[in-house]
Amino acid sequence: MTSLRNTSLVAILALACAAPAMAQFKNAKHAVEYRQAAFTVMGKHFASLGAMVSGKAPFDAAKAKADAQVVAMVSTLPWSGFGPETEDVKSDAKMEVWLEKTTFEQGAQRLTKAAADLATAADSGNLDQIKLAFGATAKSCKACHDSYRN
Ligand code: HEC
Repeated sequence: MTSLRNTSLVAILALACAAPAMAQFKNAKHAVEYRQAAFTVMGKHFASLGAMVSGKAPFDAAKAKADAQVVAMVSTLPWSGFGPETEDVKSDAKMEVWLEKTTFEQGAQRLTKAAADLATAADSGNLDQIKLAFGATAKSCKACHDSYRN
C-alpha cells in the first residue's frame, strides 16, 4: 500500500517537473497573490521540517516525508506568478527579479532541485540525511531572498 502511494507520488512529481504548472491569471494582482500564496504554503511546511531538524519538535518520519513532498511540489509553482505584467504591482519582490531574469530563474531551479533532493532524503526516514538536505534547501531560499526580496 505504502509503495503504491509512493509510486503515484513519484509519478505526480515527475509530471510536475516535466511540465511545471502554468496557472492562468485574470490580472497581474491575481498573479502576485498566487505566487505569495505558494510561498506561504511552502514556507509553512518548510518551517515544520525546520522545527524537527532543529529539535524544537519531535522527529516524526511520516510527517517529515509529507512536509518534504509538499515543499518539493509547491516549489515548482511560484515562478509563473512573476510575469512581466506583475513588475509594477506592489509586493516584496525587488525590481532585480525582472532585471536579472536569468539569474533569478537559476535560483528558482536550484530550489526545485534542492527540494526534490529533500523529498528523497525524507523518504529515507534518516534524520541526518534530512538535516543535510534541509540545510542545502534553506541556503537556496536565503540566497534568493537576499538578492530578490525586500
Ligand atoms: C528564486 C528566488 C526565491 C527562492 C529560491 C525562494 N524564494 Fe521565497 N520569495 C521570493 C520572492 C521574490 C518573494 C516576494 C514575493 C512577493 O512579494 O510577491 C518571496 C516571498 C516569500 C515568502 C512570503 C510570501 C508572502 O506571503 O508574501 C515566504 C514565506 C517565502 N518566500 C518562503 C520561501 C522559502 C521557505 C523558500 C525555500 C524553501 C523560498 N522562499 C525560496 C523569492 C524566492
